[in-house]
Amino acid sequence: MIKIEGVSFTYPDGHKAIDNVNIKIGSNETVGIVGANGAGKSTLLKLLTGIDFPEQGSLEVNGIKVRKDTLREVRKNVGIVFQNPDEQLFMTKVRDDIAFGPRNYGMGEAETQRRTEKALKALEIEHLGERAPHKLSGGEKRSVAIASVLSMEPSVLLLDEPSSFLDPKCRRNLIRILQELELTQIIATHDLDLVLDVCDRVVVLQRGSVFADGKPIEILSQGQLMSECGLETPLTLMSCPILENGCCRYAAEGSGNDERP
Ligand SMILES: Nc1ncnc2c1ncn2[C@@H]1O[C@H](COP(=O)(O)OP(=O)(O)O)[C@@H](O)[C@H]1O
Ligand SMILES: [Mg+2]
Repeated sequence: MIKIEGVSFTYPDGHKAIDNVNIKIGSNETVGIVGANGAGKSTLLKLLTGIDFPEQGSLEVNGIKVRKDTLREVRKNVGIVFQNPDEQLFMTKVRDDIAFGPRNYGMGEAETQRRTEKALKALEIEHLGERAPHKLSGGEKRSVAIASVLSMEPSVLLLDEPSSFLDPKCRRNLIRILQELELTQIIATHDLDLVLDVCDRVVVLQRGSVFADGKPIEILSQGQLMSECGLETPLTLMSCPILENGCCRYAAEGSGNDERP
């Protein structure tokens, strides 16, 4: 469903951000894109939506080549949620932001309303419909931004650092919602524990190239590979000297042990 073939991209200032990347992603796969700062994660997502275009190679979504003349069709299929929700929300009411895409594509008022309600429900934010987006909390804004993309009913959802700036409860809620969505997802993130919870597959980028590609548990548990790419083994895969089986060893040992690290 998604084919990235021999793609290279250089920014106008001469910086090569993507270097001969090849990735194929199947329908309904959820793929995490990880890598150190500057590895090329956001650039790859931008190329997939035709915000930028590669100087070499090709990208294809559902059989549609990502090109200037196919952008309208591409954007019907691929929705992107930016790292900063403020870049995505600009209406005075949440409901209007979510309705914006379908309305802009001339889908008619009844269909626009149906999609808006469905997206509000999927993100469990029906209660925010009449609020002003710019007055919401970070977590609420993120949910509205995702809903504003889902209302286009894309077959592919791209998310750039979706858990950044979220508190633990909002992050957990987001993870549950992403797990429940039934569409292809590509998630660029530093949150390796989110990748373990949500993704079927992980692609590790290093300086614009694919360094590893496979099952999250198999890739993310390789300490050597992770440190070569400037990453760390996710917390859930590390044996913790203090927490054993989710309990504090020192508490479990009871009184008499005052030697806490
Ligand atoms: N607008 C830009 N102009 C020039 N270089 C850029 C621009 N945006 C990003 N880069 C560079 O491209 C590389 C990849 O950036 P990016 O895709 O944002 O990485 P990531 O999302 O993995 O942190 C980095 O070295 C970054 O400095
Ligand atoms: Mg980025």
